[in-house]
Amino acid sequence: MSLTGKRVLLIVSGGIAAFKALELIRLLRKAGCGVTCVLTKGGAQFVTPLSLQALSEHKVYTDLFSLTDESEMGHIQLSRSADLVVVAPASADILAKMAAGLADDLASTVLLATDKPVLVAPAMNVRMWGHAATKANMAMLSSRGIHVVGPDEGAMACNEFGPGRLSEPPAILAAIEALLCAPKPLAGKHALVTSGPTHEPIDPVRYIANRSSGKQGHAIAAALAALGARVTLVSGPASVPDPAGVKIVRIETAAEMLAACQAALPADIAVFAAAVADWRVASAAHQKMKKTPGGAPPALELTPNPDILATIAAAGPARPGLVVGFAAETHDLIAHAQDKRRRKNADWIVANDVSPATGIMGGSENEILLITAEGEEPWPRLAKDEVATRLAARIAEALA
Ligand code: CTP
Repeated sequence: MSLTGKRVLLIVSGGIAAFKALELIRLLRKAGCGVTCVLTKGGAQFVTPLSLQALSEHKVYTDLFSLTDESEMGHIQLSRSADLVVVAPASADILAKMAAGLADDLASTVLLATDKPVLVAPAMNVRMWGHAATKANMAMLSSRGIHVVGPDEGAMACNEFGPGRLSEPPAILAAIEALLCAPKPLAGKHALVTSGPTHEPIDPVRYIANRSSGKQGHAIAAALAALGARVTLVSGPASVPDPAGVKIVRIETAAEMLAACQAALPADIAVFAAAVADWRVASAAHQKMKKTPGGAPPALELTPNPDILATIAAAGPARPGLVVGFAAETHDLIAHAQDKRRRKNADWIVANDVSPATGIMGGSENEILLITAEGEEPWPRLAKDEVATRLAARIAEALA
């Protein structure tokens, strides 16, 4: 693993641990990694721009509205020239700004504008780390694909003990190496992923939908991107945030999802994780349907939606090399899933039991059975992002 030639944009925010940023810069420079620093107002209370500049051998940026900085290197440009943005230490304040999407200083503006992976190393008082607001902010950031290292547990500057200490610089360096030097077995491959429910209109204000959150599909898109794939995520109205580093095409109906998938071809990999509505209303009303006093409820005439997986898997020469479908079942899991694999011409089926008792539909865990031409492979119950990581690794293995 080598960081030689890589570039890190290091954001140093406020906190007593800001002095450790100096050691981190020294370690990064020793590893051959270029470092450019952004220092927040709070950070400047603990370390000086001069010491960051001396160690990084690079100009330090502090001001959002500096005319010289803007003309030399605008805030958009700052992260474009980096491979990774690292926030160390990341104070409770900057994490909250990131979660809320605020952009009121240079650091938060860079973080909102960047399209690069972001690693945060939180450091704060133990109670601030344990506060529900910080917990919610961290959950939001993780779901957006922000990487986290630490915090460590130990004695704190404020004479308290617990989690909240900034990770030691060698541990932050190791996390940076893991992100920047990780193998990218899917580099050069294009992956198409569908996710979320579809909404089929009844009239302009009502629709038919299902309970899918998009968690699993979004996590698969992120996991494929982490292995270097270029990912197009065609998503219905999901209730989870957009994953970082993927192209998102938002749709509402199954017909729109099919058109978006066809437009995204060619693809090397296609994973159909969306819970597509099987039927739509044959002719949705153009105006809101009104009740008439004493009138009978309307009867909805349904018509089948196109099967997106089956259509793409039958796309002749444009068929993706590896087609993976899902089978959400409430009974006879294996028989139904095997039947779906054959019927829809999928290479693999990720089968799962979505009976209400399992809590899988809309929940954060999944227990799947991977069905391939070779047979069935039961996986243990895992968090949905672990299922995604494991599936992406299996896909990389299959395409190797
Ligand atoms: N699928 C699709 N387009 C549809 C319906 C389903 O692409 N119109 C895909 C799903 O994304 C999933 C697989 O087909 O990968 C199986 O979805 P599932 O809902 O389990 O199966 P259905 O075909 O809807 O069959 P059934 O409702 O009879 O179980």
